Amino acid sequence: MQTIAVEPGGEPTILERPVPEPAAGEALVRTLRVGVDGTDHEVIAGSHGGVPDGDDHLVLGHEAVGVVEDANGTGLESGQVVVPTVRRPPNGTNRYFETGYPDMAPEGEYVERGIAGGHGFMAEYFTSPAEFLVPIPADLAHLGFLVEPISISEKAVEHAFASRSAFDWQPESAMILGNGSLGLLTVAMCVETLGFDRVYCLGRRDRPDPTIDIIEALGATYVDSRKTPVSEVADAYEGMDFIYEATGYAPHAFETIEALAPNGVGALLGVPSSWTFEIDGGALHEEFVLHNKALIGSVNSHRGHFESAIDTLSQLPEWFTDDLVTGVYGLEDFEAAFDDDDTTIKTAVEFDRI
Ligand code: NAP
Ligand code: BGC
Ligand code: ZN
Repeated sequence: MQTIAVEPGGEPTILERPVPEPAAGEALVRTLRVGVDGTDHEVIAGSHGGVPDGDDHLVLGHEAVGVVEDANGTGLESGQVVVPTVRRPPNGTNRYFETGYPDMAPEGEYVERGIAGGHGFMAEYFTSPAEFLVPIPADLAHLGFLVEPISISEKAVEHAFASRSAFDWQPESAMILGNGSLGLLTVAMCVETLGFDRVYCLGRRDRPDPTIDIIEALGATYVDSRKTPVSEVADAYEGMDFIYEATGYAPHAFETIEALAPNGVGALLGVPSSWTFEIDGGALHEEFVLHNKALIGSVNSHRGHFESAIDTLSQLPEWFTDDLVTGVYGLEDFEAAFDDDDTTIKTAVEFDRI
């Protein structure tokens, strides 16, 4: 079968591998579509993740949707449409997987398929233990590759809101930092399902730009970080109750503290590399304490977040997903799915159709 793989320092390329045999407890899945996000670009560039131990390449892809080809006695049904979760235990199992929270496992207690230490889903077929395959309605199959990224935001929002659960928090405003695919999906969630009154999205693009069009069509406000840096957001607009960072631009982590309203919470999602810069630690410390602010980091997601994400996906307007997904490419022109220009928002590689 054909897979899309990368060797350290190389570009994604087609690699032939045998169709995998499902072990006991595993199903064989025929891949339909696999999405591409900023993390894939970081993996290809070598700044995040890595090949499985003893291998010289990594099969890419962690945002997949497929059809059960061989249920192999797992309780799944052949023909069922499923989305795989990303993390797997490296050696047998551990308490994070046993209790259903692989997303909270520390480094060394997980591999991430298609990212770090485990082959991904950009292959005509893949196998997976059934417990990591989440059924999705067949009429959402064409968009099933959006479930994993939405699940990332389901988790971040759950943890951020949980940090305010000790009192009657009534958030009204949200700002998403970053107009990439994760940022735009989160803007749509904030508007369509989370019920914020005022939603802002920060980018660094000139008009006309397709991401600004989407932000405004959702009823959100576009903020240009070159004119209004995050540190000036509270003065230029208002202090935000919730901030979701999806730029990977490390200064945003600290500027977020200033941009929050009293009692506000920021969720950091970006994955920057080492970066040294100056901050006024004392002022930020004071800001946290005197205004009851909170900042959380959030990575990955568990099965429950995938289930919520399927529900969220079913509520997103069709025009939004049509405009967000700028290209779905077959194996013959899979390279186009990895283009990273200003007209590309969300892409996927199509391996097969239902
Ligand atoms: P992406 O497509 O690269 O999006 C990043 C966006 O941030 C781009 O649109 C970029 O704008 C914008 N940006 C960067 N610096 C900025 C600045 N100084 N001011 C304004 N906008 C800025 O990546 P993605 O897939 O949406 O993911 C976003 C980040 O989240 C990445 O770092 C990714 O690794 C991370 N991530 C984390 C998780 C997790 O579990 N924690 C999950 C998925 C992704 P331009 O395009 O104009 O340059
Ligand atoms: C993936 C997550 C993963 C994270 C860090 C994201 O792009 O969606 O599942 O945990 O990268 O590797
Ligand atoms: Zn991702």
